[in-house]
Amino acid sequence: AWTGLSMWNARPAAALRLSPSGSVGVSELRGPSGGPVRRFELTAKAATITLASGRRVEALTFNGASPGPALRVRQGETVEVRLRSELADRGVTLHWHGYHVPNGEDGVPGLTQDAVREGGSFVYRFRAGQPGSYWYHTHETPNLALQAGLFGTLTVDPAAPEGFDEPVALHTFGGALTVSVAGGPPADGTATRTVAAGTPVRLRVVNTDNGPRTLGVSGVPYRIAAVDGMAVDGRVLADERAQLAAGGRYDLAFTMPSRPVLMSAGAAGLLLTPGSGAAPPPAAGPLLDITRYGGGAQVPERFDRSYTWVLDRLVALRGGIPMLSHTVNGQVWPRVPPAVVRRGEWVRFTVVNRSGELHPMHPHGHHVLVLSRDGVRAAPVWMDSFDVAPGEVWEVALKADNPGVWLSHCHELSHAAEGMTLHLAYE
Ligand code: C2O
Ligand code: CU
Repeated sequence: AWTGLSMWNARPAAALRLSPSGSVGVSELRGPSGGPVRRFELTAKAATITLASGRRVEALTFNGASPGPALRVRQGETVEVRLRSELADRGVTLHWHGYHVPNGEDGVPGLTQDAVREGGSFVYRFRAGQPGSYWYHTHETPNLALQAGLFGTLTVDPAAPEGFDEPVALHTFGGALTVSVAGGPPADGTATRTVAAGTPVRLRVVNTDNGPRTLGVSGVPYRIAAVDGMAVDGRVLADERAQLAAGGRYDLAFTMPSRPVLMSAGAAGLLLTPGSGAAPPPAAGPLLDITRYGGGAQVPERFDRSYTWVLDRLVALRGGIPMLSHTVNGQVWPRVPPAVVRRGEWVRFTVVNRSGELHPMHPHGHHVLVLSRDGVRAAPVWMDSFDVAPGEVWEVALKADNPGVWLSHCHELSHAAEGMTLHLAYE
């Protein structure tokens, strides 16, 4: 029943839909609304954007900018986003990466809605019950259109934010890694902001690229205060660095000292300065294992079901043609057997990477609790984007509490488009 879906390529959407498409109609799949409604309008359009260096890049944008508007709401509010399209050559949707939205709001063309075409619109509505750092992006041909700029950040605050508390997006535009912070264009190089000594700082770093980034903070001791939007309580770090998976988020927290601080991510960085002093060199310490850093989550004693996903690179039929493909359990999407779950269950997944490449795996609509990585027990941490390195085995657990039919896929989106995608379906 799932053949012919179109999200990874440009064919029109197939018939299967879990919710009625259209603009303002509210279906029974829509979530409960509560608290004030915060309305946003996002219009997808092609535009030329200018990086901090002055370099101009042809991009796909929301409201003329990439990243698109930084959406920020208070926990408990209802988010209502009207998406419109002025794109002539492709459809567009909004997927709320990491956010546990009702299935009908998940923005997967061919599965939860039809993509919005030029002149059309779609309204997303969900209650912002879950605080933290998230992001949104198109899910129609995302391997092309997300890279071209159709994304932005979503931040849900439990209380009024304090100090310098900003989403920081890392994205490659035209081959250059950039850092985007509120109030400025994407910086291809180092962005600089002035922050008074003593100010609490929280950098909500999101990796919107297809591969991992190594982050570090130098000039001040810091903590990773949240992983993929979920608070963690880990030790204070000095010069250590941490790898952030494609799609993942780390909240980096510290108190601004009286000298500059550098958040570095490879060729790009964010320099915070109290007004004077020289920039410190980028962090160069050992790599932290985020699965053993700071999770205090409770692990269930038993699991209701278990699945194994073997990630590989094999010859598989795509469109009737045998091609070397990124596979799950020997198959390419949509022929990968779905993981079937029932509401209320704890489900264990063993993810085995037999290919020679890194796969940043991303389940929609849920976080997974990381139990172990390569046989080493984790300090259990909730993640929605996790890097399974070549040869590694990850054991993760999912609490089935968000009914629907969801995608799970590699967030190296060319791998997903080649088949490394499957469904998580509630029976
Ligand atoms: Cu950010 Cu289906 O992904
Ligand atoms: Cu992959």
